[in-house]
Amino acid sequence: MTTFVLFGGTGDLAKRKIIPALYSAFLNGRLDSSFHFYGAAREVLTDEEFRTRVSASVAQYSKTDVLSTPEKLAAFLERTFYSKIDARIDSDFDDLKNKIASPDSTSTLFYLATGPDLFVPIVQQLSAHQLVGNQARVVLEKPLGRDAQSARDINAALRTYLQEKQIYRIDHYLGKEMVQNLLALRFANLFLEPLWNRTWIHDVQISISEQVGVEARGDFYDHTGALRDMVQNHLLQLLSIVAMEPPVNSAPDSIRDEKVKVLRALHKFTTDDVSKKTVRGQYRAGAVDGKAVISYQNEPGVPEHSRTETFVAIRAEIDNWRWAGVPFYLRTGKRMASRSAEITINFKQIPYSIFGANQRNLRSNRLVISLQPEESVELFLKAKEPGEGIRLSDVMLNLDFAEASNSRRVEAYERLLLDAMHGDLTLFVRDDELGAAWDWVDPIMTCWKNDTEGLKSYISGSWGPAASSYLLAQHGSSWGEEFVED
Ligand code: BG6
Repeated sequence: MTTFVLFGGTGDLAKRKIIPALYSAFLNGRLDSSFHFYGAAREVLTDEEFRTRVSASVAQYSKTDVLSTPEKLAAFLERTFYSKIDARIDSDFDDLKNKIASPDSTSTLFYLATGPDLFVPIVQQLSAHQLVGNQARVVLEKPLGRDAQSARDINAALRTYLQEKQIYRIDHYLGKEMVQNLLALRFANLFLEPLWNRTWIHDVQISISEQVGVEARGDFYDHTGALRDMVQNHLLQLLSIVAMEPPVNSAPDSIRDEKVKVLRALHKFTTDDVSKKTVRGQYRAGAVDGKAVISYQNEPGVPEHSRTETFVAIRAEIDNWRWAGVPFYLRTGKRMASRSAEITINFKQIPYSIFGANQRNLRSNRLVISLQPEESVELFLKAKEPGEGIRLSDVMLNLDFAEASNSRRVEAYERLLLDAMHGDLTLFVRDDELGAAWDWVDPIMTCWKNDTEGLKSYISGSWGPAASSYLLAQHGSSWGEEFVED
């Protein structure tokens, strides 16, 4: 791909993630020598004004030391242009068409970092202006739709202009190094597979906690909430990779075929299930890392009496032979005690202890896969403490990936941009996966809408409402940070 057009080019996501990722790919020689970048948005800007913004975004958010390579940045900016675009204005697309260095649509990647309501109008215009030939690719940011029906409508409308293989639905969690490592861990090793089922696993926990609040996105977030923002996509994608059957090979559709089966097997919640198996919360004022922070309802763009959730915990179940009866606990929240994304596989207790009853209350074996802040896989085993007698404690087999490899870390957005440019769909979400994920989330959203009592509050800097601990305690589990050995 030689031409990259970014709709939503002046937006927050472009500034923080997409532009720095593109620059990093350029800096590391991963882009074609004839590559050109076009930012597109409604604002009227000259190329020079846009370049100033691009340069500021790279300086602020790029992981690379920009000052040490000013000539590289200058070369990147020389290939950067701007096109004012309003999806409703035909002539704006004529201008874009004239500007694009190579009007050969086969080499263009369009990235739609806009709201989902603009996906169809933009693609319609691109098509009407012969900008999406059958080799062009279109990347769509999440959330795609607001519910199952709107997602299906958007997908159906897009398919009028594009084939499924041209559509790259991004979920940046799939671009994280450890997510791909999870595939390697599960399907390139022998020892885990015999244990990876209901016979040996007590429960699975997938937790993404953030310390940040809603930042400048209050208005967007208040119409979205944590269920749509994180659970419908990132958490369910992680769940599908943890729970999927071995695919026949590593081709994109072989992997996506297995993931979608898991999503379809998720047990659909009744109203009663929703009240018993879900917890939702909203942050109040508090302190995060020693700094006072305001409550969600006082964030800019958020209405005073908002009932939008910033925290979700769910006990999900998968109705199939491998997983029947194993709880999959999903949790995410903003303004929590620490920032981490972790998958924990809690194995069952040993059937009988030969070491007698006077041993301490020890946690069973567990495998902890950390996606961030550090990437690691830790297997917790029991061993004897040195000294007289037998006293057991946890020891950890730790695969620290930062130490184990010197290769350059590729950020999720960079990896996914390059994959889209190279036509690799493996780490993108297929329409049936998206539909199945929305189908599971829809009944939860509907029940929450009709239940005015269920929203709990939690203090910023905590681990969420107490009800989230109770959700696990009822079934003999606790979240990773709660377990205390006697
Ligand atoms: C985005 C959500 O998809 O993921 C944000 O819209 C969230 O609300 C972000 O902050 C978290 O991503 P990461 O990679 O920082 O964990």
